[in-house]
Amino acid sequence: MGSMGRICVALLVIQASIPNNSTPPLVIVPGNLGNRLEAKIDKPTLTCYNRTTRRSSNSPGVQVRVPGFGQTYPIEYLDDNKLAGYFHTMVEHLASVGYSRNETIRGAPYDWRLAPNENEEYLVKLRELVEEMYEQYQKPVYLLGHSMGCHYVLYFLNQQPQAWKDRYIKGFISLGAPWGGAVKPLRVMASGNNDGIPMISNIKIREEQRMTTTNPWMLPFDGFWPKDHVFVSTPTTNYTNQDYKRFFTDINFEDGWHMWEDTKNLTGDLHPPGVEVWCMYGVGLPTPVTYIYDEAFPNADPVDFVYADGDDTVGSFSMSLCKRWIGKQSKPVHVTEFIGLTHLDIVYNEKVLNLIQYILEGKSETPSDIDVRV
Ligand SMILES: *[C@@H]1O[C@H](CO)[C@@H](O)[C@H](O)[C@H]1NC(C)=O
Ligand SMILES: *[C@@H]1O[C@H](CO)[C@@H](O)[C@H](O)[C@H]1NC(C)=O
Ligand SMILES: *[C@@H]1O[C@H](CO)[C@@H](O)[C@H](O)[C@H]1NC(C)=O
Ligand SMILES: *[C@@H]1O[C@H](CO)[C@@H](O)[C@H](O)[C@H]1NC(C)=O
Ligand SMILES: *[C@@H]1O[C@H](CO)[C@@H](O)[C@H](O)[C@H]1NC(C)=O
Repeated sequence: MGSMGRICVALLVIQASIPNNSTPPLVIVPGNLGNRLEAKIDKPTLTCYNRTTRRSSNSPGVQVRVPGFGQTYPIEYLDDNKLAGYFHTMVEHLASVGYSRNETIRGAPYDWRLAPNENEEYLVKLRELVEEMYEQYQKPVYLLGHSMGCHYVLYFLNQQPQAWKDRYIKGFISLGAPWGGAVKPLRVMASGNNDGIPMISNIKIREEQRMTTTNPWMLPFDGFWPKDHVFVSTPTTNYTNQDYKRFFTDINFEDGWHMWEDTKNLTGDLHPPGVEVWCMYGVGLPTPVTYIYDEAFPNADPVDFVYADGDDTVGSFSMSLCKRWIGKQSKPVHVTEFIGLTHLDIVYNEKVLNLIQYILEGKSETPSDIDVRV
């Protein structure tokens, strides 16, 4: 396997310091920033998928640890040198209005290479963290997720009894969630994607990217996208979400098909979370929804793209699917679209941070759109 392993780091957490008697506790569940971690951290970690047990495992000799569960440092920065800031700006903002790091604001990092069906231990720890914060502050807890972290939160909430959610959860703030899946993992698994990291070729990073079960999990879900939408086009084949088996065979990655089968039902039906939701995402930016390859497929980058509206990484069609929950659960669902906001900037942008603060202060009505370009 390659020398540049995937990193196992995981997550981001936020903690802030609002006065004890008024600040509602907040737990942050970060997204999958694998490539970004690779750029900043050179600790190699690989997993192998076993078709018999249908489980992933680390390569022999490799230990993976997710440090700092319940603290904010692992999500504030992705590296020890504090170069790769992630939730730092948000945590800092919330600390300035009374939140305390590691106390009223906490991070719930996880091994993002694995889908939640292989992370049962994490889900138990998350439940215990919520209960602990509830007991300590005598207030129900807000959960905040970014990107794939929102699917982790949804899976977690879908597993809890409604009575538990009614008691312990105040609400779920989701930022940039690919609710109907994302097109990008198809490119990542086919030809690799270094996300602009210099010196690492896309094709070299591909082997590591094929070891994570979260990429197949996040493929465009069945049942939401038009069945004739072509996600990947080559001179010989157009692949829709009805053609995944063939896609995995043609890119010579059959384990990917098994990983997809094992994960497609985890959140693939978008069962309502059963808590009050604030669903926020960026719109108004060209975002690839079809990758076009030449004969070199899958061993070279796409030669062209078809774009649709989105946040530059995930299409707005997918992110807007949280609207389906309106009326499907007794708790309100609030949707705010941020015009001109990118997938990553949603965790830093001042207008987003102000809206999050506003929600945490207990004001639940939010605008349907906010323009961040002005
Ligand atoms: C909040 O409460 C904790 C323990 O209950 C205490 O250690 C901390 O100093 C308090 N913080 C504030 C800002 O009052
Ligand atoms: C997969 O797991 C089974 C059962 O633990 C084991 O016997 C087999 O050797 C494993 N296969 C690989 C390729 O590691
Ligand atoms: C939170 O915990 C981490 C790790 O123990 C520590 O380094 C950091 O100083 C703590 N932050 C605060 C504000 O206590
Ligand atoms: C793929 O779809 C495009 C657009 O509909 C079409 O022009 C092309 O002929 C199709 N290619 C194949 C191999 O079917
Ligand atoms: C996934 O869901 C589909 C449709 O609801 C069902 O037919 C299938 O058995 C499920 N698969 C697994 C592995 O649970």
